[in-house]
Amino acid sequence: MTVIAIYNRKGGVAKTTTAINLAAALANNQKRVLLIDNAPQANATAGVGVNPSAQSGIAAWLTDRMPVEKVLIREVYQNLDLIPSDYSTNTHSNLIDRFSLSSHLSLLTIRYDFIVIDNDPTLDLLTENALYAADTVLIPLRIDKFALDGYRELRRHLKDFEKETHSHLPILGILLTQYESRTRVMKGMRKELETSLGDLVFQTTIRKNIQLVEAPFLGRPIFDYAPRAKGAIDYESLAQEVLQRTKKQAVS
Ligand SMILES: Nc1ncnc2c1ncn2[C@@H]1O[C@H](COP(=O)(O)OP(=O)(O)OP(=O)(O)O)[C@@H](O)[C@H]1O
Ligand SMILES: [Mg+2]
Repeated sequence: MTVIAIYNRKGGVAKTTTAINLAAALANNQKRVLLIDNAPQANATAGVGVNPSAQSGIAAWLTDRMPVEKVLIREVYQNLDLIPSDYSTNTHSNLIDRFSLSSHLSLLTIRYDFIVIDNDPTLDLLTENALYAADTVLIPLRIDKFALDGYRELRRHLKDFEKETHSHLPILGILLTQYESRTRVMKGMRKELETSLGDLVFQTTIRKNIQLVEAPFLGRPIFDYAPRAKGAIDYESLAQEVLQRTKKQAVS
């Protein structure tokens, strides 16, 4: 069982798109997957067709007002369960430490092969709970002029977090998203990133694809909405790399 936190301090880099579609791709590969929406915006919840304001979720669970069975939604997609986000309708102000999600998850881990956690771009207590609970972090990165600087700053923050919490949080990989292969500047930046960051960068890049934008409007993963779209091909390819890398991390 592997817990993957999807995280980047930048907004709009495809964290939520990646959380939903990587979770669904792993589920397509006969893995039992739990998607946890740990972001107050609740985009991952809505993105798999669940109405966040009609639903108790992670906040009620972490503050022990509801047992997991009451907040967990089974089979939002084949092999894929969801713990929705209810931060907007439920207070989590009595969530006081970084360890709550980790301890709550311990009872669930035997049921799943993968737990994928979507996060906000802020490094607040909610995100810290996810990072502490995670075995590894996947960083979506959109190529722009400041992508490398942004990544280095993020790395420093994660290192500080590891030191402070005496935890070990290896990076599963850096995923280039919203990629346009026909743009020369992007191609050049991709080379530069791969030279600087080496094997950390996944071989799979997620190409720019309009169906990935449309699918959450219908509350469906890309595989359900447009199985032949570039977005579906790319996230399936990412899942294969994630399966390989998590196998390696588990033995190393
Ligand atoms: N490969 C892609 N091609 C085209 N559009 C994409 C792609 N991936 C994501 N998007 C779009 O980019 C926008 C931002 O994506 P997303 O919401 O997943 O980012 P995020 O990192 O979760 O944002 P936030 O920081 O606000 O949580 C969305 O409109 C999404 O549909
Ligand atoms: Mg998001």
